[in-house]
Amino acid sequence: MSGAALAPRRGAEYSRILGIGAYRPSRVVTNDEICEHIDSSDEWIRERSGIITRHFAAADESVVDMAAAASEKALASAGISADQVDAVIVGTVTHLWQTPSAAAELAFRLGAGTPAAFDISAACAGFSYGLTIAQDLIRGGSATCVVVVGVEKLSDLTDPTDRSTAFIFGDGAGAAVVGASDSPGIGPVVWGSDGSQTEAIIQDTPWDVLRDDPTHKFPSLRMSGQQVFRWAVYEMAKVAQEALDVAGITVDDLDAFIPHQANMRITDAMMKKLALPESVVVARDIAETGNTSAASIPLAMGRMLEEGQIKSGDVALLIGFGAGLVYSAQVVVVP
Ligand code: UT7
Repeated sequence: MSGAALAPRRGAEYSRILGIGAYRPSRVVTNDEICEHIDSSDEWIRERSGIITRHFAAADESVVDMAAAASEKALASAGISADQVDAVIVGTVTHLWQTPSAAAELAFRLGAGTPAAFDISAACAGFSYGLTIAQDLIRGGSATCVVVVGVEKLSDLTDPTDRSTAFIFGDGAGAAVVGASDSPGIGPVVWGSDGSQTEAIIQDTPWDVLRDDPTHKFPSLRMSGQQVFRWAVYEMAKVAQEALDVAGITVDDLDAFIPHQANMRITDAMMKKLALPESVVVARDIAETGNTSAASIPLAMGRMLEEGQIKSGDVALLIGFGAGLVYSAQVVVVP
């Protein structure tokens, strides 16, 4: 034992989102088109989920393609060049390669040199988990500028004939560039998991089943909609409130509420439980984009910025929740 002391490393005191970028594939899919394969109706889907349309990626459009499009926009809006990026985090559950990661390919595509790059599997909480990791990398001194992406090609893992999921999911990507800040721009996270509800949203077939029986149907996601709905409505408003508490603010200090776009009725129920004042703008991107899992929060934030519903410096409450089950919430300052 030499007893040599290792050099300490500490990063910036605070971090913030510097820019946001959103990408929706060009193909718009209506409820009527979805209903060609399931016994449902445009009216039922709008009423029960708030979804009017969603976007589906082209057959040859990958999660990395979509992630690159969103990340390039986020970098441009942050005024950051790709070579300044020293970590890339991709939240996704629909990158169909077990390995290598989407993040490593994305970093190369962006021309980011040789940054740290990895994927995380936190489903609809993926973007919020990614922000937390980015913040801790920056504050711990392991990175200075992080690209965080939520991206999904859910059309690849959705059974178009499954009445409980076919209408809900969509494809897209949202990205944030996270860097150092003079004041806190990302509040403390409130996050967790409930593995007792693993079956509530699940890929129905693991890869080894396909290996052992190549004639087996390709995997799809299955969801116990009511179970997830109840959990989201009863438990997630508490988590959102805790995120406000640990950030040291109340609903009266909020400018925007940007929850995971799971179901318009879940958003409405959470608003009610949180007793949000009317002045708080609420993300409703699900109407045109569907539920895009990890991508839904940055996609919604991107739309709200583009449409002038929120502006730089506004304070927004984010919450993601989904398969795992997992959840994550934090308050952020809008870039
Ligand atoms: O993103 C990850 C997290 N995911 C979520 O948070 C999703 C949470 N769950 C939901 O958003 C909702 O549960 C759904 C939108 C998926 C379903 O809505 P629901 O109000 O929970 O419907 P349900 O399953 O309770 O079904 C109500 C009725 C049933 O008929 P009866 O028994 O009342 O006669 C179903 O058979 O609606 C029927 N139904 C449908 N009808 C037309 C179920 N699916 C459909 C359908 N079209 N696609």
